Amino acid sequence: MDPYVLAVTGASAQPLAERTLQLLLQAGRSVHLVLSKGAYSVFQAEQGLSVPVDPQRQMNFWRDRLSSTSGELICHRWNDQSVSIASGSFRTRAMLIVPCSMGTVGRINAGIASGLIERCADVHLKEGRPLVIAPRETPFNLIHLRNLTALAEAGARIAAPIPAWYTQPRTLDDMVDFLVIRLLDGLERDLAPLQRWSGPIE
Ligand SMILES: Cc1cc2nc3c(=O)[nH]c(=O)nc-3n(C[C@H](O)[C@H](O)[C@H](O)COP(=O)(O)O)c2cc1C
Repeated sequence: MDPYVLAVTGASAQPLAERTLQLLLQAGRSVHLVLSKGAYSVFQAEQGLSVPVDPQRQMNFWRDRLSSTSGELICHRWNDQSVSIASGSFRTRAMLIVPCSMGTVGRINAGIASGLIERCADVHLKEGRPLVIAPRETPFNLIHLRNLTALAEAGARIAAPIPAWYTQPRTLDDMVDFLVIRLLDGLERDLAPLQRWSGPIE
């Protein structure tokens, strides 16, 4: 199967990115991971995590942190546009941007492929491949809403990580899983073999 691209930007929902990565690897998928410069700052500010920038060291870091040995993980620098995923001729299954900052949303909508994430999103839209965007901001201003609308019109799926309580979550991890299921659903059946809603509890 063609690999997934997972991009993480400097918005405030990094645990969603980590869980998405873990589930894709657990499912045996190949994942090309790109963190924006802002994502490193948010990992540091919110979780006290110093994620290595060097691709090989970063790969070892995630393997260790997620206790993961399955699947394939390839890490890229945010400014390296010479890598495979920057080109439309390199086949991928889909791209997810989790979480997606309003800065990245704006740059993708403007066609400004200044970094690898924006370039890769541009490639997925032009090639007609799935692009799932998990925007993280609240409240949205009119510029955010217009940018997100334009991306939806261009073919992206806007999957805002909005919590719900109908599944009766007990912990934050339950809530993270609920949000990640909603991101992965529609890409592949049973990609995330997690607890699902099956009607009201009797
Ligand atoms: C701790 C922290 C949390 C942030 N949370 C958000 C957020 O939820 N949404 C957002 O759009 N920007 C957020 N920002 C601002 C972005 O990180 C900033 O605009 C950055 O330039 C985005 O760059 P990027 O899109 O390349 O990651 C946050 C910044 C910090 C330091």
